[in-house]
Amino acid sequence: MDIRIVKTGSPKAKPKDNELGFGQYFTDHMFVMDYDAAKGWYDPRIVPYGPFELEPSCMVFHYGQAIFEGMKAYLNKDGEAVVFRPFMNIKRLNRSAARLCIPQLDEDLVWEGLRKLLTIEKDWIPKTEGTSLYIRPFVIATDPNLGVRPSHTYKFFIILSPVGAYYKEGVKPVKIYVTDKYVRAAEGGVGFTKTSGNYAASLYAAEEAAKKGYTQVLWLDAKERRYVEEVGTMNIFFKIDGTLITAPLDRGTILGGVTRDSVIKLAEEMGCRVEQRYLSIQEVYDAHKAGRLEEVFGTGTAAVISPVGLLNWNDNIIEINGGRIGEVSQKLYDRITAIQYGREEDKFGWVEKI
Ligand code: COI
Repeated sequence: MDIRIVKTGSPKAKPKDNELGFGQYFTDHMFVMDYDAAKGWYDPRIVPYGPFELEPSCMVFHYGQAIFEGMKAYLNKDGEAVVFRPFMNIKRLNRSAARLCIPQLDEDLVWEGLRKLLTIEKDWIPKTEGTSLYIRPFVIATDPNLGVRPSHTYKFFIILSPVGAYYKEGVKPVKIYVTDKYVRAAEGGVGFTKTSGNYAASLYAAEEAAKKGYTQVLWLDAKERRYVEEVGTMNIFFKIDGTLITAPLDRGTILGGVTRDSVIKLAEEMGCRVEQRYLSIQEVYDAHKAGRLEEVFGTGTAAVISPVGLLNWNDNIIEINGGRIGEVSQKLYDRITAIQYGREEDKFGWVEKI
């Protein structure tokens, strides 16, 4: 399918790398295509970034039929634009689509649209270490209709945002609040998808935690409120007695993170034992008491690797590794970023050139 291109007549001034923050600036163009039942996905196009019109009755506003993804483009040491494991994200977008009754997207067309968009916006990829161009594909349901049913029409977008670190702490350890009062996802639900409602539903607990001075919430399983699942915007790993432990994906309550998968593969290659298993919050605290809890860190596209320096579970506060980043967390951060910025050979074939 041909991708139409309409260039902006008024390019924006680009922000400085040191004032980026996360998700505050958007590039000059976006990729858009539409869906209806008769035509399928049609009219893929790159157009100036900007507002668009929708009727107030559009289904996405009422029943939240919406999905999204997050990837990053980097400038490697030779000045080439690269994207980290985009096909994993595009496949996950389609898994989310299936669960939310949204029609499947043509994965090659999504990649082609993204490649063309990034080619046009290459100058927006920031150059400083620790910065990147965040890629946000998303789909919304656009039928003007208040019946509760899947929409018959959709819009797909890719927008781009030059970003720095997600957390103000950067790679400094964050403080996490463990909640057993609220839950994120239950078996049979949509926890494994990147649907907007998962994030809306997380806000209340996150706000309560923020008021107490915590950066994020650690969710436990919905049934027993015992087992660690994930953190607001990240998967989470615990290093106990030299073994990295993270929650398994088999209950469908956890997002299958691309950084999570990359960290598992890198850690195993580095000779570190990795277990994907249910780990109770009590076991974490017992390990800490016995001096066996060595490191805790979160992983995510936006957050990369974010060390956890402190956990609060029902006002039992534990400090991890003296509140400093652990050795394995640091090594994993260094390796994953070296692969992303092209300083380390891409042995796993994770980096796609634009
Ligand atoms: C990402 O890591 O890309 C995410 O989507 C998390 C986010 C909601 C900022």
